[in-house]
Amino acid sequence: MLLHKTPVAVLISGSGSNLQALIDACAALEFPAEIKLVISNKADAYGLERAKKAGIATQVISHKDYDTREAFDAAMHEALVAANIELVCLAGFMRLLTSGFVQQWEGKMLNIHPSLLPKFKGAHAMRDALAAGVTKSGCTVHYVTAEMDAGEMIVQAEVDIVSGETEESLAQKIHVQEHRIYPEALRMAIDVL
Ligand code: GRF
Repeated sequence: MLLHKTPVAVLISGSGSNLQALIDACAALEFPAEIKLVISNKADAYGLERAKKAGIATQVISHKDYDTREAFDAAMHEALVAANIELVCLAGFMRLLTSGFVQQWEGKMLNIHPSLLPKFKGAHAMRDALAAGVTKSGCTVHYVTAEMDAGEMIVQAEVDIVSGETEESLAQKIHVQEHRIYPEALRMAIDVL
């Protein structure tokens, strides 16, 4: 019997290496998700190329085309509903979402963040970890709630910060772990949908 694959959308703003990890995971027959739509708020996001290469529908919804955050989020919500999406993965999506949108997807929207939350929330997590002089950092996949980077955690992975670590070298190590835990967290979230 063929496994039912939950229809998922991935929201991106940039390179989309986490999107790629999810695309690769979804290619396995026994993986319980199928990426049906990739939305980017930036037309030049490289992740859009990754999606096209994998034969996934893409949509650019630019925040610049909307007067308010509410109107931008409403356009995304409409696109997600039109594609029958059941679960949303934020993967390097660099816009703050309105509480209304977040509520519409409560328990059905995940984010990946490059720190061991609750430490180092926000857009400069790796820089902040280095500045704080900690010896470990990592990444977290969590549910999205109205408060930024604060929802229930699903999976975390640690990496060591060694002497001479730079933002680039730390980012590289964290990415390796991100690509491993995001598919794992997606599978877990689908299990409890
Ligand atoms: C990742 O480090 C993720 O934790 C953060 O944004 C970055 C996205 O990278 N939210 P990529 O676009 O998936 O390569």
